[in-house]
This record gives sequence, structure tokens and C-alpha cells, in this order.
Amino acid sequence: MRSLIDILDFTVEEIDELIKVAMDIIKNPDDYAEKCKRKKLATLFFEPSTRTRLSFEAAMMELGGNVIGFSAANNSSASKGESVADTAKTISCYADIIAMRHPKEGAPLVASKAASIPVINAGDGGHNHPTQTLADLLTIYREKGSLNNFTIGFCGDLKFGRTVHSLINALSRYTGIRVVLISPKELMLPSYVKTDVLDKKNIPYEETTSLEDAMPKLDILYMTRVQQERFFNEEDYLRLKDSYILEPKKLDNAKKDLCIMHPLPRVNEISVSIDNDPRACYFKQVLNGKYMRMALILKLLEEAK
Ligand code: CP
Repeated sequence: MRSLIDILDFTVEEIDELIKVAMDIIKNPDDYAEKCKRKKLATLFFEPSTRTRLSFEAAMMELGGNVIGFSAANNSSASKGESVADTAKTISCYADIIAMRHPKEGAPLVASKAASIPVINAGDGGHNHPTQTLADLLTIYREKGSLNNFTIGFCGDLKFGRTVHSLINALSRYTGIRVVLISPKELMLPSYVKTDVLDKKNIPYEETTSLEDAMPKLDILYMTRVQQERFFNEEDYLRLKDSYILEPKKLDNAKKDLCIMHPLPRVNEISVSIDNDPRACYFKQVLNGKYMRMALILKLLEEAK
């Protein structure tokens, strides 16, 4: 049974195909309106979400399917001690496909081993968020026309930001990618991502604490929220939470065609006064996420036949 747990579970060719299907959905939505008739998606969210859960649900509805699920662990029998594996086996009796978010790294992988239906990792702890990566890749493709040959700056919480880890993994398979890592010392990219991905694939990268210094080099700026829920101590969070705030003045030395991305939710990282700048792409990412999740549901259900 095929699942999506890590973005590297799919080949570059498969991701290209998902982008192609998503682009066709955008052009011809009516052609897809009944593709998942009588199919059910279960959204099992043990951790809060607005975009991922609701875009999965909207995606399934736009494919003509139905949705069941829960939006918090305390609304499920996990609160009585049921295991992730038993939950996945149970849901396999009711639904055709699962999207699962869980605070524990590896929980969706455990679910995929127990389930008899495809499982999609909708975010596991500070580890991975492959469907956000699919949204990010479609956004880069639509804004830049290619997934090759650009400099991307990741800014903010690179330690706990699972969207950053997944996107770096995905981009490592394309050519001409240069990376600038902008973070406070305490929130630097984990060394395993640097050695296992950036070093291994010979991707040129630099680390800096200064967004201003990095700005002129960037074709894409990927801002991130400081992940309060992953901190062990409130004092550190309060000290670091406003390390980077993107305001219009900070774009003075940016490229005219910079693409500003953020997986959202944002707290203070991007001033709302940037939202109307044509370079702001973060709400486009939200919409692209729905199209890529539609393409993904179609692919996994087709393969499960
Ligand atoms: N980007 C993202 O995962 O948003 P949610 O936490 O709202 O799902």
C-alpha cells in the first residue's frame, strides 16, 4: 500500500506528474468534480491545524468525495490511551485514505504500517510536512516557471520548522539550487539536515544571522514562525520569537521579482503591510496546497485500487 510519509517517498518524476495534474485541475476543475465519488477521506488531527486539515477536506469535497475525522486528540479515543496503530486499523474499516497530523515524529509512519489504506503525513512533530512541500513546490513552479536554478533563503526557526526540512529535502534533487540559512544561533538548521542533505548533494549554502545581508541574493525568501509548541522553556521562546520581522523597509535591497513565501500561520514574522506587495506569495501557497492535495489524493487512491 503506497503512502506519503516523507517527500522523498516520491520520485522527482512523480512530483512532476502531481504538478501537471494540479495545473490541469486549476484549468479544468469540472473534469475532476466526481473523480472521488463514494470515496472517504479521514482527517486524523492530533495537533491543531487550519490550512492542512481544511484544505484536505476541501480537496476531497471538490473531487466529489466525503470526509470524516477529528480535529484534536481529545476528541478521539487516543485520550483513553488507544495507540496510533489501533486507530489506523480502525479507520481502515471506515475510510479509503487517511491524512494524519501528530505531535510525535514517526506517528504517521507507524499508522501507515498498521493501516490497510494509504496514509498521508500531514505533519509529524518537528520532523516532516510533505504536503506543505507539495504546496511550496507548486508555488515555486508557478511563480518562477521552474524548480531549478535559484537562490532560496530560509529565515527564522530552522531547527523546529518541519516545512523547512521537507522543502530542503525536496529541492536537493533539482539542479542549480543555492541555499542561505538565516536564523538565530539557537535555531540553526539541525546538523543532520546539513550533512545528510546539503553536504551530501553538494548544494552550496551559507549560514548567517542577518536577513538584511542575505536579502539582495535571494530569488525566494521562505519565512517561518518560531515554533512555540516545540520549545521546552517559555523564556527562550519569548527571547527568540521576534528575531525576524519582515517589514516593507527590509525589502529595499530585495530583487524586484523576489517570491516571499511562508507556510503560515504567521505571528509577527511578516508585517501585514507586505500582504499587498506583488512579491507576497504566502496566500497563493495556501491555494496551491489544495490543488496539490487533490492531485495527491487522486494518485494514492488510483494506486490503492
Ligand atoms: N502550513 C500549515 O501546516 O498550516 P496549519 O498548521 O494551519 O495546517
